[in-house]
Amino acid sequence: MVQNKNNKAIWNTRIKKDTSSIFKKIGSSIDIDKRLFKEDINGSIAHVEMLFKQKIISFKIKNKLVWGLNKIRNEIIKKKFNFKYDLEDIHMNIEDRLFEIIGDDAGYVHTARSRNDQVITDFKLWLISSTNEIIREVNDLINVIVKNAEKNVETIMPGFTHLKNAQPISFAHYLLAYVEMFKRDEKRFKNNLENLFENPLGVAALSGTSFNIDRNYTSKKLKFKRPTNNSIDTVSDRDFVLDFLYSVSVCSVHISRFSEEFIIWNSDAFQLIKLNDRIVTGSSIMPQKKNPDLLEYLRGKTGNSFGNLFSMLTILKGLPLSYFKDLQDDKELVFKSFDQIKDSISILKEILKNFTPNKKRMYEFANIGYTTSTDLADHIVKNYNLPFRKSYQITSKIVNYAESKKKNLNQLTLKELKKIEPMLKEDVLNVFDLKSSIKSKKSYGGTSFENIKKMIKKYKRESK
Ligand code: ARG
Repeated sequence: MVQNKNNKAIWNTRIKKDTSSIFKKIGSSIDIDKRLFKEDINGSIAHVEMLFKQKIISFKIKNKLVWGLNKIRNEIIKKKFNFKYDLEDIHMNIEDRLFEIIGDDAGYVHTARSRNDQVITDFKLWLISSTNEIIREVNDLINVIVKNAEKNVETIMPGFTHLKNAQPISFAHYLLAYVEMFKRDEKRFKNNLENLFENPLGVAALSGTSFNIDRNYTSKKLKFKRPTNNSIDTVSDRDFVLDFLYSVSVCSVHISRFSEEFIIWNSDAFQLIKLNDRIVTGSSIMPQKKNPDLLEYLRGKTGNSFGNLFSMLTILKGLPLSYFKDLQDDKELVFKSFDQIKDSISILKEILKNFTPNKKRMYEFANIGYTTSTDLADHIVKNYNLPFRKSYQITSKIVNYAESKKKNLNQLTLKELKKIEPMLKEDVLNVFDLKSSIKSKKSYGGTSFENIKKMIKKYKRESK
């Protein structure tokens, strides 16, 4: 039986010399993976119960092991557990403590398993609950955005392409664009659950085990849907890590695009929104400043989530099957991305609750840049039976004329318009009204107030 006296590593019968101190330092991951302690203990308990059910260990030993493991869980929760650096990771720390508590019978716990399947079992269990946590957070964020949209259905602003004023839109429509993005994020995280639901426990080191284990039983106990199919793939697979890191990266991109846009809109040049004092910071030298640091933080931190994804991709590229120490870094990358995205979502919610759209400025700005030109071109097509390319030319001439006179389109008189296109009648003047432009965009998914109201209803229904 495995002895584990004096905190010696479990493999010290085979490996005679003390590990070199530098290797101990770089090899230990306890500071990071202690976060998996609950999953590790739950996984061990399910494993031990299965070993008993399969008559691999006795009733007495099973009870002893479960009792010891529960005790360790309590010790860790109560911060009475002494994590030992020398014992490498959470798995060895718990096993070592089990020896201290119940004696040599602790040696039965590792029958028919390896740390290789143990660690991914823990990790997948952790990722299932953390993914669900993010899904809830994203959902909450969506609700906050929808609330903002509801208050701004008739807030008119210019929509941009190339950051040039393009066409009038409702501010709510812009906000709901982000709802769609975050809904896709939600879906992406949900889709990841399917692979996470495959139970790695029982593939042991890499080839399975000669013990008569029941992997369906542990799957059920741990709420996985099914056992994984191939033992070699199972210990080598970190696709579920990539999926998570990618999903976080995409969600971060969305947060970053939003942040960038708000930074621009909050600038003195745009002045389309105003950030509340709760979410700005001052300057050490310029007394007048109110800087959008939090938005910049969100944009900046997005780089870290890409970094984590790329680290993991690089670790896996060219790594032969099956387990290698390289893989140990997976947890640090995931934990960092998880903490980051959680913080970022909370910050974004805070921002959405602490800004005001400058409605007057938005409206005035929407009239600049000939934003109703497309409406005019459409009007000519509809009323004078011309092909769009022809009406596009006529409209261009009108825009050129307005520009030469330093006027907006809605400042042109019918007389001026008729000089360029004599067919035009009085009703053309309505075309330059921002509100009617928006109202006319009734095509499914368009910015009309009517559409937006329907969409808001739909999102509210879905979030219930
Ligand atoms: N701490 C290790 C990790 O996270 C556990 C697996 C160790 N397996 C091994 N064969 N050294 O990767």
